[in-house]
Amino acid sequence: MSYESKVREFYDNAFHCYQRFMGDRWHHGDPEAEASGLPPLRACEVLEEKIVSQLGLKEGSWALDFGSGIGGPTLHMAQVSSASFVGVTNNERLNQKAREKAAQAGLAHKVRFVTLGDTDYKHLPFPEGTFDAVTFYESVCHIPDKAALFRELARILKPGGRLGGMDWLQRPFGQYQTEEQILRFMQPLNDSTAIPGHGSVGSYTRMMEEAGLQVLVARDLYEGTLSKGSATSEEQVQWLGYEGPEGEMFQQGKKTLDEARAAGVFTVGMFVAVKPR
Ligand SMILES: C[S@@+](CC[C@H](N)C(=O)[O-])C[C@H]1O[C@@H](n2cnc3c(N)ncnc32)[C@H](O)[C@@H]1O
Repeated sequence: MSYESKVREFYDNAFHCYQRFMGDRWHHGDPEAEASGLPPLRACEVLEEKIVSQLGLKEGSWALDFGSGIGGPTLHMAQVSSASFVGVTNNERLNQKAREKAAQAGLAHKVRFVTLGDTDYKHLPFPEGTFDAVTFYESVCHIPDKAALFRELARILKPGGRLGGMDWLQRPFGQYQTEEQILRFMQPLNDSTAIPGHGSVGSYTRMMEEAGLQVLVARDLYEGTLSKGSATSEEQVQWLGYEGPEGEMFQQGKKTLDEARAAGVFTVGMFVAVKPR
């Protein structure tokens, strides 16, 4: 079984767990918005708005959201930018939910959700120069060949088009400086959350540059400090006692994530890049 199909199966189960604990947005919120006391889902929207404001989208623009989950971020970006979006994942079940949500929000005419084959990210089914912007929210981390994906995302952008997104990353922190020391915390997290290996701010920047993009923003959202999730202490207890499909795996995912956060080696990065004209 390919790693990519393992990830697809992981999301058949994550669908239940993640919806329950995170609603329709499966990514971190904006740290400043969270610190100012905004609720988690609003803090997620704020981060989406920060990213989308740097993409130059307007009515009539076309954007692709890679790894669109059940569509929360895709629909919000379409709403705030007035652009049309196509959200893609390799999981039809997630897309069915996303399409329902698009219809409920009255956005079905502007936002489509398309199911890709597991390794289609290496040859995306869109001609060169199709999109004004491409986005990703905590999806690239699941991809074994991240460099191939960034090459494809760059290829389908129009000249002058922008790539914007955010993702789970690893980094040296405090006493944990070598790859071996970092992997002591990151490998158990990789194993329990279907991640083949985490990149870093530096490796994402390099891959984008090698794909021909000019990187404008490459930022550790928790520079110099420990990363935070949005779960309250009550939700934390619920996560750790979760008994839905593959419950133990998701409990383990939460536990290993918390340990990697506490060691400081887990972080979240935000990126904006442009395809030169
Ligand atoms: C953590 S979820 C994030 C979902 C959404 N971006 C959000 O923030 O709510 C990761 C997403 O990446 C998608 N993904 C993982 N591997 C993929 C692949 N090989 N091809 C396409 N999508 C993939 C998953 O299906 C899922 O939708």
